[in-house]
Formats: sequence, structure tokens, C-alpha cells
Amino acid sequence: MALCRKLSFLFVANLFFTNVCAGNTDYTVSVDSGVARRFDGIGAISGGGATSKLLVNYPLKERAEVLDFLFKPQYGASLHILKVEIGGDAQSSIGTESSHMHDSWDENYQRGYEWWIMKEAKKRNPDIILAGLPWAFPGWLGYAWWPYENISRTADYVVRWIEGAAKVHNLTIDIIGIWNEKPYDVGYVKVLRKTLDARGFKNVQIIAADQIGIDSWDVVDVLKKDKEFNAAVSMIGGHYPGTYTTDEAKKFGKPLWSSEDYSTRNDERGAGCMARILNQNYVNGLMTSTIAWNLLDSYYNDTWYNGHGLMTANQPWSGHYKVSSPIWTTAHTTQFTQVGWHYLPHGHGVGTLKFGGSYVSLVSPDRKQLNIIIETMDTTTADFCVNEPQQPSKVLPQNITFHLNGTLGKIQTLQLWYSHLGLHKEESVYFKHLGEIKVTNGVVSLPLTVNSVYTLTTLKTGHKGSVLGRQPSPRSFPPIYKDNFDSYAAYEEAANFAQQVGVFEIRPAEGSKSHNHVAGGNVLRQVLLYAPIHWCPTLMVQPFALIGDYKWHDMSVTVDVRVGHVNATDGVFVAARVNNSGCTAFLAKGIYFFLLFDIQQWQVSYDLARTEVISHGDYHLSHDQWYKIALKVKGNFTAVRVDGKTVFNKEVPVRNKNGFAAIGTDTLGLADFDNFVLTA
Ligand SMILES: *[C@@H]1O[C@H](CO)[C@@H](O)[C@H](O)[C@H]1NC(C)=O
Ligand SMILES: *[C@@H]1O[C@H](CO)[C@@H](O)[C@H](O)[C@H]1NC(C)=O
Ligand SMILES: *[C@@H]1O[C@H](CO)[C@@H](O)[C@H](O)[C@H]1NC(C)=O
Ligand SMILES: *[C@@H]1O[C@H](CO)[C@@H](O)[C@H](O)[C@H]1NC(C)=O
Ligand SMILES: *[C@@H]1O[C@H](CO)[C@@H](O)[C@H](O)[C@H]1NC(C)=O
Ligand SMILES: *[C@@H]1O[C@H](CO)[C@@H](O)[C@H](O)[C@H]1NC(C)=O
Ligand SMILES: *[C@@H]1O[C@H](CO)[C@@H](O)[C@H](O)[C@H]1NC(C)=O
Ligand SMILES: *[C@@H]1O[C@H](CO)[C@@H](O)[C@H](O)[C@H]1NC(C)=O
Repeated sequence: MALCRKLSFLFVANLFFTNVCAGNTDYTVSVDSGVARRFDGIGAISGGGATSKLLVNYPLKERAEVLDFLFKPQYGASLHILKVEIGGDAQSSIGTESSHMHDSWDENYQRGYEWWIMKEAKKRNPDIILAGLPWAFPGWLGYAWWPYENISRTADYVVRWIEGAAKVHNLTIDIIGIWNEKPYDVGYVKVLRKTLDARGFKNVQIIAADQIGIDSWDVVDVLKKDKEFNAAVSMIGGHYPGTYTTDEAKKFGKPLWSSEDYSTRNDERGAGCMARILNQNYVNGLMTSTIAWNLLDSYYNDTWYNGHGLMTANQPWSGHYKVSSPIWTTAHTTQFTQVGWHYLPHGHGVGTLKFGGSYVSLVSPDRKQLNIIIETMDTTTADFCVNEPQQPSKVLPQNITFHLNGTLGKIQTLQLWYSHLGLHKEESVYFKHLGEIKVTNGVVSLPLTVNSVYTLTTLKTGHKGSVLGRQPSPRSFPPIYKDNFDSYAAYEEAANFAQQVGVFEIRPAEGSKSHNHVAGGNVLRQVLLYAPIHWCPTLMVQPFALIGDYKWHDMSVTVDVRVGHVNATDGVFVAARVNNSGCTAFLAKGIYFFLLFDIQQWQVSYDLARTEVISHGDYHLSHDQWYKIALKVKGNFTAVRVDGKTVFNKEVPVRNKNGFAAIGTDTLGLADFDNFVLTA
């Protein structure tokens, strides 16, 4: 018992532990006094915002592999729920997702990639639950920060999205939310319920109210006081609850969901975060579903929330991806437990472990299959999750014995699956089948190491998915990149253009395609005409899309631009070394070249807002005409040519050393881009 003595010595310094030795502890696992809450599934969010952007353009083989690791049952994360953003034409954390109705007269179900990812998820798991939630809304539904100006109009807009899913994509949406982490309106929720019922979507459940942190459960009071509101809402969802709800929420009886959680880098800490919240959201908060933000880190490195996906696939140009450790700690629950299983009551298979960590037990509807999931994340070595834990606690190695009482006592063997997170530089183990262990007279013992996850299960179906052969190596963004936009279908987004503000869509060229006067083909068009109802705290109204590699210093960007005479923007720009994104995109600095149609000028500026103009000159600009802009930055020199003629070539002292290339417009309004070339 050398380990035990050593631990006792350590405890001398700790008043609370002076007379204990982390020995063996007994826990009862029993269904005989009934089961507790229904398990509602583990999921992840694509969107909020634009998190799956780069996956779409992956080589097909690698793209299918990534989707398998996320959605295929008995393979990887094997998710039960896919929640997507209902694009609202506004920046929603990392990028902007397109709305299905930019305006009251515009309706289209081919935009973005959420339809596609939902179909791919369904292909792999026909039972996957689909949920949708708006982060933002197009501007015609209200103003600035208010989508409830006309609640019937907003409900109609959301129900059209559900109808579009069904009619155009044969997708059944199961759950719909209100407004991500923003005010909810009780009247709106009632009207949404009525509209859903009237249009054939009685089965679509409403989740309320996706508020954040401690405020998440306040909605319970409102539900209690309003019968119609209460009847409209199927489950209560809170974000980043730190594994706790309130006694009032627990007593209320409606299912409690952690409808957005995790938001941690997909390293060992992130894997530990998933393991902890998947257990402790139930142990502490009786939450029966946990949904991770986000599904996949499929956005540029060096934009916001770098690495905050269950895994990473952000290099479509190389095809490289990484199956990160959170996939495997998620698998400990998802591969064995299915929606409709039940948790066992606290003290009968659910609880915290005496020397730190937690365990949950779940049984199948026929109560014959059993899973026990144990996690021992030591929160004094890492703060694993957002808002969690509330009080760091030390976890010790310990031995545990489960007594499978009563009917569960008939179980003779259990499969043991194990992960260990090497948070102290020791080697990690991910989702390893350690074989079958014997249960003798209902008794099973297990030594537990710290920062580990264990699943004991009657099911023999667990499987650690893997891909044969060599994976493509990582590579940085190609040094020569061209796109004439002709290979896409109308309304698609262009590969690798990460829209930050505004919406850039493929549209057939009007008249001649470009500067070269080629007939036919496509252009990339900024289509937003007025400001959306924002999610970010700042109103951002200068559309732009990023492309390239944030680490680049010198580069040249060439693009053809055309501003028409209908609903036109005031000007267009091309930029290099653009260094901001997400909700702070408006602060982006770099070197910008503007062609301003309203004042008939060109301008070179350090910033998007043109508060730091370096130089400017008159320029005769005509609507409906193509101009070819070539911007080149090299060290302290910037050169710009328009239609082959130099308009600017001077020393421009470097401020920010590096950043992305960008194209954009000076104000909301239409502008076309074509024949884009970026070289490092
Ligand atoms: C667990 O049990 C094993 C075998 O009986 C023993 O060697 C070990 O010291 C125990 N560990 C703890 C932490 O008590
Ligand atoms: C609200 O929207 C509905 C449906 O779009 C429309 O019929 C109604 O006229 C609008 N009400 C007002 C006050 O604008
Ligand atoms: C639509 O999806 C259902 C499954 O949800 C499937 O049974 C049916 O065949 C699909 N219909 C079409 C036209 O693809
Ligand atoms: C992406 O970012 C991560 C973390 O910042 C870094 O470790 C990694 O090297 C970056 N990858 C590339 C290709 O730049
Ligand atoms: C479970 O079994 C253990 C050992 O057989 C026994 O000590 C314990 O009282 C039982 N618990 C319940 C709740 O029946
Ligand atoms: C321009 O805007 C008006 C309404 O503001 C709209 O009716 C028209 O379709 C728009 N045209 C284009 C090309 O966007
Ligand atoms: C750019 O100019 C700064 C001074 O403005 C100077 O310190 C720096 O060395 C110059 N860099 C290059 C690459 O010439
Ligand atoms: C962008 O560059 C400016 C200098 O041009 C700098 O002040 C700012 O901190 C940079 N922003 C980021 C997010 O790096």
C-alpha cells in the first residue's frame, strides 16, 4: 500500500483529509427503485457563426472521413444531435451565415452549408436530432437589436426555414430555438408555437430560452406564471451553466438542457472539459442533454476561437485534418447511450466519487443494457471548461467497487473502455477497449487513475474508428490562389472567402462577366442592402470577406470589380494584412485600397473605417463598368494599379506586420467581384 501511505502523508497538510486514505469505496448501481430522467442526447453546433465554412471545400475523401468521425454511429463522436445556426446575415462569432430571406422579396434554400451538413449527418445517422437557432436576423425583420417588432412576421420567417428544410432538402427539423443568448419575447414564442402547429409542424419542439450562465434558468419563473407559454415550450436550455441549474428548475419537471457548452480548445483540456460536463451536467444539474459549441474547427487559424471545435479540419487546400481528443471523450458516452435511455437515480448509479470525479449510470428502455461512465478530471491541474468548475477540487487515484443490485445483478461481464488525458506530459490514451471484465455476484471493482474516463458497458458495439493509409500533410495556404467563380452554382459561397460582414454570393454575371468582356459565367456579389439585426454588440455595416493566411506579410491581391446602378454600394475595396475578424471585425487594420463611386476618388487607408487615410486622388468612376484593381504590399512599400495604370506607389510604413487579404464594400449595397488572384 505504498501509494496509500504516500497519499496519507500528503493529507497531513490538509485538515479535511487527515484521517482518510484514498482506498476503496463502494457504490450501488440499481434500477430496483426505478429510473430517473430520460437521456436526451449529446450534440454539437455547426454555426454561431460560420464554424463549418472550410469543410465544404475539402477533397471528397477527407471530407467524408471528417463527417464520419463526427456523425457515424459506433465510429467517433457519434453525435445524437446536430444543432445549426439559422443564418441571419450578420457576424455571429467567427463569420457571417446567410439568411434564407435577405429581404421580404427574397427566399432561397441553397445558401451556405448548414443544409448540406445536416444532410451529411442524416446520411450517417438517420436518427440524428436536428435543431435550429437564429443568432441574428435579416434587417427587414426589425431594427438594430430587435427582431420582435412584428412577431408574426418573425415567426413566419423561422417557420419558412423549417418548411424549406422539409420541402427543398427533405430534412425534418426537430427542435427550434428563439434567439441565441438574447432577449426572448413570450408573445413571440406563443405565436411561433401557433404558427408551427398551423403549418403542420406540431412535432417541432421549442427550446427556451438559450440564455447564458446563471440567467439561464430565470425562464422557469416566467413559464410557471404563464400556462400558454409553458405549453409552448418543450425543454429549457441554458448556455455554459457550469454544470449547475437551480433547485427551482430541477423541481419544475421540464427537461433541462445545456444547449450550448464546451467552447474550449480541442486539446487535452478540451477533452477533459467534455468528459466532465457530459457527466456532471447531469450529476449536479440534472441536465439530460449537452450540446457543444462548436462541432468542428473549420475556420481559419488566427481568427476568433481558433481550435474551439470537437476536432479540427481547417485546411481544405491540403486536406489535412486532426481527430482531436474531445472526439474520444465524447465517444465514452455517445457510442453506448442512446436517446431514450434513462439515468439511474442519484445514489443508485449516479453521483460524485468520494475522492473526486463523478459517475453516471444509464439503462436501455428494456433496462437490460447498462453503461457506467466515470470521469476523474482533476480541476486543480486545469480549468477545463467555461464557467466550470465553480470550485476547483483535487481528484485522487482511488479504487471503486460497484454493486450491481437486484435485476442488474444478473450482469456477468462488462466491457471496459478507457481514456487518459496526459495533462502532466505523460502519454495520453484515447478510447481504448481494455477488454471484458467479470462481474462476480454483481460486484465489479476498478482502480481509477486521475484525469481519466472509463466506460463500463454491457454493449459490445463500441468501436474506435480509424482511417487506413496516409493522411495528407498539413500545408499553409497556397502561395498562388485564383478563383474566377465560374465553377459554382448560383447562391453558393465561394471557397475560402470567409465573410465577416455582409454576404458574398455567387451570381450569374449581368452582361459581360468581367474586365475581359467575357460573356456568361459568374461573379461574386455582395448582396446585403441594409443592416441586419445584429448578434455582435457593435453594428457592423462595412461588408468584407477574408482570404489567405494571417501570417503573410507581403502579398499581392488582384480582382475585377464592378458597381452597378441599382441598389449599389458607395464603393469597393481590396486589402492586405487585414488583422481582425469576428465581433471585432470592424477594428480590422491593414492596407486598404478603396474606389469610391460617390466621391469619385481612390483612397489608401490603414483601416476599414477610413479614419486613417494615407493618400487619395480623384478618379473618374462609372457604374456598370469593370475595373481591375491590383494591390501589392511589400515591406514598407505599397503599389496599386487600376486597369494596368499605377495610381499609387509609395512608402507606407508597416503598422501591423501581417494579416489576411480581403475584398469588400464601403457601404452596404451591391458590388460584383471577379477574377480574384492572391499571391504571397
Ligand atoms: C487499489 O487497489 C490496489 C490493489 O488492491 C492497491 O495496490 C492500490 O494501492 C489501491 N489504490 C488506492 C488508491 O487505494
Ligand atoms: C406583421 O407581419 C404579418 C405577416 O408577415 C403581416 O401580415 C402584418 O401586416 C404585419 N403587421 C404589421 C402591424 O405590420
Ligand atoms: C425523405 O427522407 C425520408 C427519411 O426521413 C426518406 O424515407 C424518404 O425516402 C426521403 N424522400 C426523398 C424524396 O428523398
Ligand atoms: C494554428 O494555430 C495553432 C494555435 O494557435 C498553432 O499551434 C498552429 O501551428 C497553427 N497552424 C498553422 C497551420 O498555422
Ligand atoms: C447493494 O448490495 C450491497 C452488497 O451486496 C449491499 O451492501 C447494499 O445494501 C445493496 N444496496 C441496495 C440499495 O440494495
Ligand atoms: C433593389 O431594391 C429594391 C427594394 O429596395 C428591390 O425591389 C429590388 O429587387 C432590388 N434590386 C436588386 C437587384 O437587388
Ligand atoms: C520600415 O520602416 C520602418 C520605419 O518606419 C523601419 O524601422 C523598418 O526597418 C522598415 N522595414 C523595412 C522592411 O524596410
Ligand atoms: C491590428 O494592427 C494594429 C496596428 O495596425 C494593432 O494596433 C492591433 O492591435 C492589431 N489587432 C490585432 C487583433 O492584432
